[in-house]
Amino acid sequence: MLPIQTLTRFIYENERDFPDATGELSSLLASIALGVKVIARLVATAGVRGLTGYTGHVNVQGEQTYKLDEEADAVLVDILGSSGCFGSLVSEERDAAQETSSVSDSVKYVVAFDPLDGSSNIGTNIPVGTIFTVFRRRDMKAAPSAADFMQPGRDIVAAGYSVYGAKTSFVYSAGYGVHGFTLDPSLGEFILTDRDMKVPQSGDTFSINEGYWSQWEKSFQNYLHSLKTGENDLKKVYSGRYVGSLVADFDRTLRKGGIFLHPANTKRPRGKLRLLYECIPLAFIMKNAGGIATDGKIAVTDIEPQAIHERCPLIVGSTEDVEMFLKAVG
Ligand code: AHG
Ligand code: MN
Ligand code: MN
Repeated sequence: MLPIQTLTRFIYENERDFPDATGELSSLLASIALGVKVIARLVATAGVRGLTGYTGHVNVQGEQTYKLDEEADAVLVDILGSSGCFGSLVSEERDAAQETSSVSDSVKYVVAFDPLDGSSNIGTNIPVGTIFTVFRRRDMKAAPSAADFMQPGRDIVAAGYSVYGAKTSFVYSAGYGVHGFTLDPSLGEFILTDRDMKVPQSGDTFSINEGYWSQWEKSFQNYLHSLKTGENDLKKVYSGRYVGSLVADFDRTLRKGGIFLHPANTKRPRGKLRLLYECIPLAFIMKNAGGIATDGKIAVTDIEPQAIHERCPLIVGSTEDVEMFLKAVG
């Protein structure tokens, strides 16, 4: 399979398209890719290392953490914190923004990440992943802080995710297309396998946890029922697909089309997923791939974050399917 285009070469080649590029974005993406490769190995060996269980701690989200959550978090804090690329880090697993060991006045970026997404599937062979969002510091005269993360998704610099499954895939966008890579373990390199990804205009799957049925508004229940009966504007009967790992459900929706929904419910008016390091990065990618991401009312990339761990409903996918949702329920 020639020509081989690696993530590193692809990033640096793209950098040449920007005369004022300093190389920082390229090196920060390379650092994130290194972190993803290390986590891929941790996930693959967790079973034999006896690391698929809980730590016994509860994180800031109020959720029991798995040993793998904490391992993946430690890997990213170490690699990104020492990369010299970031002034501050926000992790799903840490209460507050973490200053990095390499803060200098010239460091332009900060990064938020979900080190291990889909934790409820740890211990099975169901794919899990990592999600990240890169922001530009808002005030280079002030020390990097949580304030740098209070920016809407339309202003972020880059975002991406990895999926640790039958293959390790890495998908990112810096605002100029969405590009997919697959790890070749024999080379230790991510190889470009999907240049300029576009979500299909419409799809035939809906992806949602119907266990919340009783907590949804009647209008939402009617909409969901219409996807099963075909009694909807698109006269389309959908299939249901739900893995329970956002990265896996999102990746399938991006590549094959359809709609993923983790909406608000009566117990959680702002939903379950986290805005900074789950909804914004995936909304940014879906938008750059020609799809739509909404919280049910407005575009996710227009939401102004107020807190680093705030939650957000997420309805994301093919334009035709999300537009039908908005017309029926929005
Ligand atoms: P995390 O493992 O990072 O806490 O994320 C879990 C999220 C996401 O991966 C998935 O889509 C969702 O939780 C599943 O939620 P339900 O169990 O409510 O379906
Ligand atoms: Mn997650
Ligand atoms: Mn997580």
